[in-house]
Amino acid sequence: MKHLRSLFDLSIDEFHDILNLADSLKQKLADGQRPDLLKNRSLALLFEKASLRTRVSFEAGMIQLGGAAIYLTSDVGWRERETIGDFVRVLSEYCDFVVCRAISQATVDQLAAYNVLPVINGLTDQSHPCQAMADIMTMREQCGGELKGKQLTFVGDGNNVARSLLKSAAICGMKFRLAGPTKFQIEAKLVQRVQQHFGILDFDQSPDIPAMVRDSDFLYTDVWTSMGQETEANERTASFTPYQINAAMMKHAPTHCKVLHCLPARRGLEITDEVIDSPSSIVFLQAANRLHLQKGLLVWLGMQNGIIPSDEVK
Ligand code: CP
Ligand code: NVA
Repeated sequence: MKHLRSLFDLSIDEFHDILNLADSLKQKLADGQRPDLLKNRSLALLFEKASLRTRVSFEAGMIQLGGAAIYLTSDVGWRERETIGDFVRVLSEYCDFVVCRAISQATVDQLAAYNVLPVINGLTDQSHPCQAMADIMTMREQCGGELKGKQLTFVGDGNNVARSLLKSAAICGMKFRLAGPTKFQIEAKLVQRVQQHFGILDFDQSPDIPAMVRDSDFLYTDVWTSMGQETEANERTASFTPYQINAAMMKHAPTHCKVLHCLPARRGLEITDEVIDSPSSIVFLQAANRLHLQKGLLVWLGMQNGIIPSDEVK
């Protein structure tokens, strides 16, 4: 069974197939078409953390594709009333897919291990694959379809979003740089695994902001304190303050450089109003593409897992 536990679940070709499907569904929607490729199919949403974009784009995406989404609240007694195995086996009798936003990557992996329905990672401590794929879709649009050789620089914490972007950059042949304090950089083990898995990675990370930012086609940032790290907020704010994306930092970047943020943003911390609301910012295009990417992903997983026949997808 095909899942999306992380981007390691995809080959380079599969990653691009999903993006191409997402592009095509986006174009169809712009043309007023909402093909009901997931008619009568249902998606469960199991979220251990807050969400606007991921939850609503999956729900709206299912509606547009003719199916339905069911947001599971605490009433289902997740982790309280029965084992994960019993839970997911029962869920698979009612639903065709599940999106799980989990505190720990292990939870998503455990759900998937039963192989009873496709599991989609809606963010964990380790990764945020749907976000990174929508970001690649957005950057591709900015570059007329080709990202090979372009530089994406992540400024800040080597967190779940940065880690998924690292994999996505490898897949697309982009250069990936991270500007951040040594303590919060991406660990060498992951970098090696990405290199081995995808066979290509042009990567560097350093606290040296001008060196990392200088050749960027895209600058990306995220919150300094992710969900679940609230007790570290003071230490993190102190460490990351020099890494705010502001007008002074933008002077180190080429004038054509675009700015991304997965949102929600802490305006005035990791990014200033001046930058996030400037013409260089593409943050709302990113948020919009979450919908299209998720639709492409659901249709692709539907075909891969025999939930919908491939010949229905033109
Ligand atoms: N970027 C993102 O995943 O947003 P939500 O936390 O609102 O889903
Ligand atoms: N790194 C952030 C991303 C939110 C979409 C977090 O995990 O809270």
